[in-house]
Amino acid sequence: MAKNTLSFVCQNCGAAYNRWQGKCDACGEWNTLAEEDATGSVPVSIRSKRKGRTFALESLAGKSPDAPRLSSGMTELDRVTGGGFVRGSVLLVGGDPGIGKSTLLTQATSMLARAGHRIVYISGEEAVAQVRLRAERLGLSDAPVQLAAETSVEDIVSTLSEGAVPRLIVIDSIQTMWTDTVESAPGTVTQVRASAQALIRFAKKTGAAIILVGHVTKDGQIAGPRVVEHMVDAVLSFEGEGSQQFRILRAVKNRFGPTDEIGVFEMTGLGLREVTNPSELFLSERDLGTPGTAVFAGIEGTRPVLVELQALVAPTSLGTPRRAVVGWDPSRLSMVLAVLEAHCGVKLSGHDVYLNVAGGLRIHEPAADLAAAAALVSSLVNAQLPTDAVYFGEISLSGVVRPVAQTPARLKEAAKLGFSRAVLPESARGEAGGDAGLALNAVNSLTTLVAEIAARGSRRGDANAPAEKNATPARFRRGEG
Ligand code: TYD
Ligand code: MG
Repeated sequence: MAKNTLSFVCQNCGAAYNRWQGKCDACGEWNTLAEEDATGSVPVSIRSKRKGRTFALESLAGKSPDAPRLSSGMTELDRVTGGGFVRGSVLLVGGDPGIGKSTLLTQATSMLARAGHRIVYISGEEAVAQVRLRAERLGLSDAPVQLAAETSVEDIVSTLSEGAVPRLIVIDSIQTMWTDTVESAPGTVTQVRASAQALIRFAKKTGAAIILVGHVTKDGQIAGPRVVEHMVDAVLSFEGEGSQQFRILRAVKNRFGPTDEIGVFEMTGLGLREVTNPSELFLSERDLGTPGTAVFAGIEGTRPVLVELQALVAPTSLGTPRRAVVGWDPSRLSMVLAVLEAHCGVKLSGHDVYLNVAGGLRIHEPAADLAAAAALVSSLVNAQLPTDAVYFGEISLSGVVRPVAQTPARLKEAAKLGFSRAVLPESARGEAGGDAGLALNAVNSLTTLVAEIAARGSRRGDANAPAEKNATPARFRRGEG
């Protein structure tokens, strides 16, 4: 039988090679390949000598002894997990160091322990005293969480096999764990994978839910072990801008729930506070009356979220103008710019373009196209958009504004937050219903919107000039040489 010869594994990304080389072709890192037992972590004695045992096959309709999900009591966390931690499942929580992973999990575990569940918190990074100190700061010292500072997976599994099965076990972090079955150092791909495997086996066997904490590399991947992402049931990513208080928990993968939900938190001096109405938070520091800002009525999962898009369009001094975007897809921005150039006569090739989503939110919806276009044109012609309007709609390559899902939910949220008009796709007007509570400005092509903003610009620029009804490309050529 052919022997599996892939035995050199990159300790950064997990790519396997059959001979040593200095640079990993997959991730480009140098000197990260280490020799690994090609057969993985299963000892030879077990592999070759063990005879298969028989096991009982079961039906789909079997009853579990306990509720299948364990609700954490934190609405924002439960929303992202899809209603709580599933029995026997393993969840990976990734995020930059210092973002608040340990804080979040300390809070969640304390609440569960107070509710009478057996909860274990294993810290591989901090000493027991440090974890206690955090709990004290959070006012959770009285919660009966079972705590230990341990890093050996074998010891952890033996300890937890005794007594009642814990409902939830937190391993903070998986990169600090090590197992005897493999020889590499803790933190290497081999160790992390073997440790995760052992813990996953334990979870499936006993029905305990396990949360693994994972660090994130500078390029946003859960460090080293991408492999772990494939092994676990759910991957949550905890994100936020260092300078801001908002933290967003997002499901990247979830076998038991949706992947488009977000949970919003605010880091305070007393730990993480749940933000039940994120729109209020994202709009709290609005720059009212500045050209180049538009409010986007978006949907994150099942929840409407209003957020401000900020654009800056300025004449460039470079041969190739800059396009920088934070919080949105750069290729989506390029597309909107191309449509503006091709169909609306808006010349942007001589301008640097910056687009920012306020509050550190990351938008994935194409529905933000219309708001982005409005912000860009508003900045270019230096005309402020109405401060009481929200925008949403997808822009097609032909410049048509296409309808998007969940129009009523977007309008309802906008009305709730005191907005009085919405700029939306023509075809969504019917869906909106008569009593949206907002004045609806339906546009069917981007040209119409550009013309309206340009008219505002010219009214502002010259009070005596009649408002222009059509886009005047001349206005947009400002600053071009
Ligand atoms: P931590 O949960 O230790 O982050 P992680 O486990 O993701 O590395 O959070 C550390 C940061 O959070 C630290 O900069 C201090 C801050 N923090 C607060 O602002 N308030 C608090 O109540 C706590 C416990 C931490
Ligand atoms: Mg931590």
